[in-house]
Amino acid sequence: MRNKIIETVKQMVEMEKFAGNYEVFDTVKRGTKKTGKITLEGVAKKISVCDLCPLAKTRTHAVPGEGNPKAELMFIGEAPGRDEDQQARPFVGRAGQLLTKIIEAIGLRREDVFIANILKCRPPENRNPLPGEIVKCSPYLVEQIDLVKPKIICALGKFAAQTLLNTEVPISKLRGKFHEYRGIKLMPTYHPAYLLRNPADKKEVWEDIKLVAKELGIEIPRKKPKD
Ligand code: URA
Repeated sequence: MRNKIIETVKQMVEMEKFAGNYEVFDTVKRGTKKTGKITLEGVAKKISVCDLCPLAKTRTHAVPGEGNPKAELMFIGEAPGRDEDQQARPFVGRAGQLLTKIIEAIGLRREDVFIANILKCRPPENRNPLPGEIVKCSPYLVEQIDLVKPKIICALGKFAAQTLLNTEVPISKLRGKFHEYRGIKLMPTYHPAYLLRNPADKKEVWEDIKLVAKELGIEIPRKKPKD
């Protein structure tokens, strides 16, 4: 299923390019023409009124992302869930609370990092994102990354990691080492929602996060985080 989605996105992008339709890659540019200056707030505003895909009709709120505009560390998840859709904020449900603990375990606060998702709107019933949704939505994330310029991206879960790295390699094989995305070091790790179902894998995430902290020059606390 996952392989099929990646393949279909690739085909769609190639088809759009072949047809000379660059408009799909221009999501962020549109709406910034007046000032010409793109800011994180500007991107968030455009996301909040975006209607480029059918998720605009089913969402309660779009969830642009939040955090330190100069964050050295950026977390990227899959898509908002029910709590995020209600509150217009990323990672505020149970998985989000675990993510907050992970961030705090390396001595940072949520406000120190930037948290975003591949998709800015909740897919109905939390189904997997569709290729067309990824194509329409990903320019927003690219713009956010280019504005924040983090030193490290931590991709949360299989979907974010495989989408950003354009690979079908399983997350269990991707995690544990740095990759590169747009010249930025990227550490894939398990999604906090997965950890809620598979707490035994928390130790792997702790290993990944320690590598991230080390790379950022953060002194690593001796104790591993509790649930
Ligand atoms: N899961 C995600 O991938 N993102 C969120 O914002 C919340 C849950």
